[in-house]
Amino acid sequence: MLIRERKPVSEDDAIRYMTDVFEGLKHLHSIGLIHRDLKPENMLFRTNHKYSPVVLADFGLAKVISNSDTIKFDGAGTLKYLPPEAYIERRTGKKADIFAVGVTLYQLLTKKHPFVSSSDNAETIRRNMKAARYRPNYYRQEFLNISYRGQDFVKWLLEKRPSEQA
Ligand SMILES: Nc1ncnc2c1ncn2[C@@H]1O[C@H](COP(=O)(O)OP(=O)(O)O)[C@@H](O)[C@H]1O
Ligand SMILES: [Mg+2]
Repeated sequence: MLIRERKPVSEDDAIRYMTDVFEGLKHLHSIGLIHRDLKPENMLFRTNHKYSPVVLADFGLAKVISNSDTIKFDGAGTLKYLPPEAYIERRTGKKADIFAVGVTLYQLLTKKHPFVSSSDNAETIRRNMKAARYRPNYYRQEFLNISYRGQDFVKWLLEKRPSEQA
């Protein structure tokens, strides 16, 4: 599991983790698969070493997408890591994986979820997702503490639309 400490991870560590995550994701996408359940729980440290590589795990929901940009969205995945657009457009694809990595990176750096508040219950989350009422919070102090380059990168990951070509 990618979140092994209570305090935010440093940007240097986050860069190392994300390099491994994107390498895995690039490979997966290059062979025509999407993961569909990327989140910290499904990114594992290979060893207990401080500089352990990170590997993608849990391919239970992985699906063939081949050369299409998007496939029909069937509700699979973990609600808090899905782009709200998936619900409205009923499409998902490589961009949804990238969005999920964006949520994960935001969490690593801030220890907060970009849009779901800790007081939202499952029903509230479902309702807000379906109505596309969630917007990432780029104004909280924990996010503003990140370097400008880091903030821009997180925003870029989270603002990808799932229906766009990856
Ligand atoms: N090879 C592994 N070594 C250590 N822990 C693992 C390994 N594979 C999975 N886990 C742990 O078990 C959890 C559940 O495994 P996962 O493959 O994600 O199945 P599920 O579909 O139930 O989420 C993971 O989040 C991780 O904490
Ligand atoms: Mg899992």
